[in-house]
Amino acid sequence: MVKIAVLPGDGIGKEVTAEAVKVLRAVVGSEFPLDLEEAAIGGAGIDAFGDALPPSTLELARRSEAILFGGAGVPTDDYRPPKEGAGNGLLRLRKALSLYANFRPVVLYPELLDASTLKPEVVDGVDMIILRELTGDLYFGEPRGVETGTDGKRSGVNTMRYSEAEIERIAHAGFKAAMGRRRKLCSVDKANVLETMLLWREVVIAVGKQYPEVELSHLYVDAASMALIRNPRQFDVIVTGNVFGDILSDEAAMLAGSIGMLPSASLGDGNKGLYEPIHGTAPDIAGKNLANPIAAILSMAMMLRLSFGHEAHAARVEAAVRGALAEGFRTGDIMQPGCRKVGTREMGDAIAAALNRTPVEAKATAR
Ligand code: IPM
Ligand code: MG
Repeated sequence: MVKIAVLPGDGIGKEVTAEAVKVLRAVVGSEFPLDLEEAAIGGAGIDAFGDALPPSTLELARRSEAILFGGAGVPTDDYRPPKEGAGNGLLRLRKALSLYANFRPVVLYPELLDASTLKPEVVDGVDMIILRELTGDLYFGEPRGVETGTDGKRSGVNTMRYSEAEIERIAHAGFKAAMGRRRKLCSVDKANVLETMLLWREVVIAVGKQYPEVELSHLYVDAASMALIRNPRQFDVIVTGNVFGDILSDEAAMLAGSIGMLPSASLGDGNKGLYEPIHGTAPDIAGKNLANPIAAILSMAMMLRLSFGHEAHAARVEAAVRGALAEGFRTGDIMQPGCRKVGTREMGDAIAAALNRTPVEAKATAR
């Protein structure tokens, strides 16, 4: 029996999570029992309990082995302080469970070579992981807030803060990920301007002494954002802080054709993980059966691999995604000439149907 908390959240999060659960049930079949329990988070949590992370949801997440998460965010977030917003439920959940290592694999499926806004010869063969630190940085650093000075004028304050221990553990995660792949790690910082980031660089270099086989490089975040679209194939594993990782991973999504293609896994020191598409809740297309469920389905595959060790099942799901793409199924965001445009549910059905017909190729694991 595996215990999974299902937290669909808001907007398209609900729709894509339903497809991930559909494909999960299809791939597991009767091989082992699944104990799925659903709970509210984000705007759904605020509506039901007045809290973006209701205590009962946190408690469910604590006693589950893995969490399948959809998205948190509602249009009214624009008009309230971040700490009261729907997305804060997700941030608190990550922090409460110490899920500090967020793996965001960026893989271009060859079928989507022409779906990217970038030239095919630039994105062909892209296969990297952006490892984003997830529980520190400007997101959580104190002091924070808006202060009113003696002149009655307000100032906003957020603090970029990283302890050595926080940098060390994410650096280890980065080197280990690189060891399982092409053994290249690029650390992205802003050490030329920010003291916190100079410490980041020093600690990453020190940890690197324990991984002599990994080729370590460093880029400032501005240069990294350019390199990502100039020559993305140079990257194997990128390790970076919370804020830079948030920004660079949205940018990198376009290398894979659409942000609707990028899954993620957030892990701590154990096997428990939170699995979520990197995209948001897209209120403009929510409830219309338009969203691409592939990021959510690939996140579920990462869950099978990383929390449960079911490598074969994970590989089958990934092969089925590729199979459905090869058969020409496309949601609007990745639509190409000559392909068949389908909705969220139909894409989920196509992937579930492809599970038994698609041969599985060996694939590098994310951790
Ligand atoms: C992400 C999202 C979240 C973040 C939001 C929803 C709080 O953008 O997972 O990338 O900023 O971490
Ligand atoms: Mg983001």
